[in-house]
Amino acid sequence: MRRPVFAANWKMNNGPTAARAFIAAFAARWAPRDDRSVIFFPPALAVSAVVHALGSRTDLAVGVQNIWTEDKGAFSGENSAPIAKDAGARFVLVGHSERRHVFGETNAETARKCAASARNGLTPILCVGELLTQREAGETNDVVLKQLHVGLGRLTPDIVSSMAIAYEPVWAIGTGKTATPDDAANVHAVLRHALRGVVGVASESIPILYGGSVSAANAGALLAATGVDGLLVGGASLEVESWLVICAAG
Ligand code: 13P
Repeated sequence: MRRPVFAANWKMNNGPTAARAFIAAFAARWAPRDDRSVIFFPPALAVSAVVHALGSRTDLAVGVQNIWTEDKGAFSGENSAPIAKDAGARFVLVGHSERRHVFGETNAETARKCAASARNGLTPILCVGELLTQREAGETNDVVLKQLHVGLGRLTPDIVSSMAIAYEPVWAIGTGKTATPDDAANVHAVLRHALRGVVGVASESIPILYGGSVSAANAGALLAATGVDGLLVGGASLEVESWLVICAAG
């Protein structure tokens, strides 16, 4: 049985001041639970503020939304895995749909970012998902499998079996159009089968999260779908009330 993961992707919201206030309000009402993991992905400039606000709450983890492929050097404006680690991050979102479709990130780059995370002791969460046009053309499985196989291509089996995958259909992100629990279950089954092909039985430990217009109202049903091991949440993770409800789902 995989431990469900509840991940808040704040995207470009909540600077240090708002992040501190959010964490104080959330932590005051969220008691540690050993049956689930909760991870916050603030903007990079608010990572230190979140780490400090969490203090001794080691049940709540922090990650970054993106890193660059190299560990250091002349890459103005980028953040590296060693910098993220030094700031207190433990996880990295790699290949989020906005990185892919707004910033043009390629599958090859996601592979190098996963490798950069791993060689610096950070856990990558590789995000995959199809565009609406790809879904309508019946290409969903091909798209997510290519993203998965290329993205994992530079990792050792040990790293693959200790990381996480997130399925986020692009058409469901920030649109209010949630995939049905059946839609999610179908793609999660495809991903689970592929992971078994990559690392064998060790793949059983890899959580596969669903993301895309998750809300307090639909979190329970999505989490109950076969093969959904957690939720990656954007908009609904920006309100303490809805985030508390989502983290308690299932
Ligand atoms: P929304 O929950 O706002 O649709 O965003 C999903 C997402 O992209 C999380 O990474």
